[in-house]
Amino acid sequence: MTNTATVLQASGVTMRFGGLTAVRDVDLHVDQGEIVGLIGPNGAGKTTFFNCLTGLYTPTEGQVSYQGKVLPAQSHLVTQAGVARTFQNIRLFANMTVLENVLVGRHTRTKEGLWSALLRGPGFKKAERGSEERAMELLDFIGLSHKRDHLARNLPYGEQRKLEIARALASEPGLLLLDEPTAGMNPQETRATEELVVAIRDKGIAVLVIEHDMRFIFNLCDRVAVLVQGEKLVEGTSEVVQGDERVIAAYLGTPFEGAPEDTAIEEVQAAEAQAGGEGNDQ
Ligand SMILES: Nc1ncnc2c1ncn2[C@@H]1O[C@H](COP(=O)(O)OP(=O)(O)O)[C@@H](O)[C@H]1O
Ligand SMILES: [Mg+2]
Repeated sequence: MTNTATVLQASGVTMRFGGLTAVRDVDLHVDQGEIVGLIGPNGAGKTTFFNCLTGLYTPTEGQVSYQGKVLPAQSHLVTQAGVARTFQNIRLFANMTVLENVLVGRHTRTKEGLWSALLRGPGFKKAERGSEERAMELLDFIGLSHKRDHLARNLPYGEQRKLEIARALASEPGLLLLDEPTAGMNPQETRATEELVVAIRDKGIAVLVIEHDMRFIFNLCDRVAVLVQGEKLVEGTSEVVQGDERVIAAYLGTPFEGAPEDTAIEEVQAAEAQAGGEGNDQ
């Protein structure tokens, strides 16, 4: 355990928006070969933390290192360094084809490459031929090669999410950050995404994933960190996190699938009823 290489190290990351501290002094690391989960109620600061990791935001305090080097707070430089991500709200190029979206992903390693890809200049056309084989491999990997010429906007939602993953993989990252990859998916698609994440890890890419689907998180992750009101409340294995009363308490009032809180809510309600006597307005 101690000689495992650390891929990502976030230290003391704080992000303030005016008077609001969305992320407060968070330390988190991801090691080679790991799938790490980041969970927490809505508004806990998970996406903001991702934005700090990927250079979309400059953290108010703290720093983020990738493979021992401090990452600059500029997203294209973060991508170039080897960190790729998907977004909670899908960000595909809707009017490009499936294949073109993956090809664009291959050229986001540099700012110049991205513009060249978007404007489809001669440099891009040449690079495109060289990249197409790799892009098709990635489409095979996610199971969408048969839709290479479909427009991204015509794909069902679950396939759009998968395409976003392929586009992120196209930058050949060493670490992939997924922000709610199964949002809007049916149970079959969610299970398939679980398998996909394992396959990504098996390719040697470390994964940090934000998810609301607790079954997904607890099945998949080697380690889970819980963010509540911007602070890391608990971190540990799935067993440790599931058994922690503070985590259960943090989620009370925001029920989620597969969570153990149904009985906990009953217990709290029973205790309140006992304590509060007749205050039983519905
Ligand atoms: N750009 C921003 N400006 C101001 N407040 C923000 C911004 N981004 C996020 N927030 C606030 O930060 C908090 C955490 O949000 P977010 O990171 O999206 O939570 P989560 O992803 O855990 O649901 C929320 O209160 C949200 O309103
Ligand atoms: Mg979010």
